[in-house]
Amino acid sequence: MKICIIYHSETGNTRHVAQHVALECGAERLLEVLDRTEYNRFTKFISRCSKSRGEETVPISPASIDIAPYDTIVLGSPVWAFKPTPVIHSAIAALKGYTGQPVIGFFTHGGMPGTSEETFTRWCEQRWFKVAGTMAINAKGIEDEKNTRELVALIKAAG
Ligand SMILES: Cc1cc2nc3c(=O)[nH]c(=O)nc-3n(C[C@H](O)[C@H](O)[C@H](O)COP(=O)(O)O)c2cc1C
Repeated sequence: MKICIIYHSETGNTRHVAQHVALECGAERLLEVLDRTEYNRFTKFISRCSKSRGEETVPISPASIDIAPYDTIVLGSPVWAFKPTPVIHSAIAALKGYTGQPVIGFFTHGGMPGTSEETFTRWCEQRWFKVAGTMAINAKGIEDEKNTRELVALIKAAG
């Protein structure tokens, strides 16, 4: 089973989970998507929250992601303003070559994941992507092997 893990991370929590899970499930590809927005350092937090709350998209790198070679697609995002980030919203829009593969979403948060899982599922379903599972992980639990095992099991069960 060829697994592709695509994630956004600013302070490392989501990257940490993505890297662990990639090792555990032998992912073929691990791709970090970067935000190309130039934020003002003083208003960055508010601006990110506002874009996330409005479910906006932003310029990302890479601008296009070919998922045709993979059997399972995993997307990881921080939670911003109770939703997945604009970067992951943009990454969903940037996926090319979808052939019906199951999609899994995971989210790292500071204790208030809000509607992250539902919002992610809605964005995927708007593109006719099949969501096979979602999981929200508190940032305090990113070192907890139980969380890694649970996410790996979700990915393996989907494939
Ligand atoms: C702009 C911004 C908004 C955030 N909003 C929320 C939120 O609504 N709920 C929550 O639980 N955590 C929130 N957080 C905390 C992050 O979701 C959490 O620290 C996450 O693990 C960061 O992931 P990263 O290290 O991969 O960037 C927010 C952080 C930032 C920077």
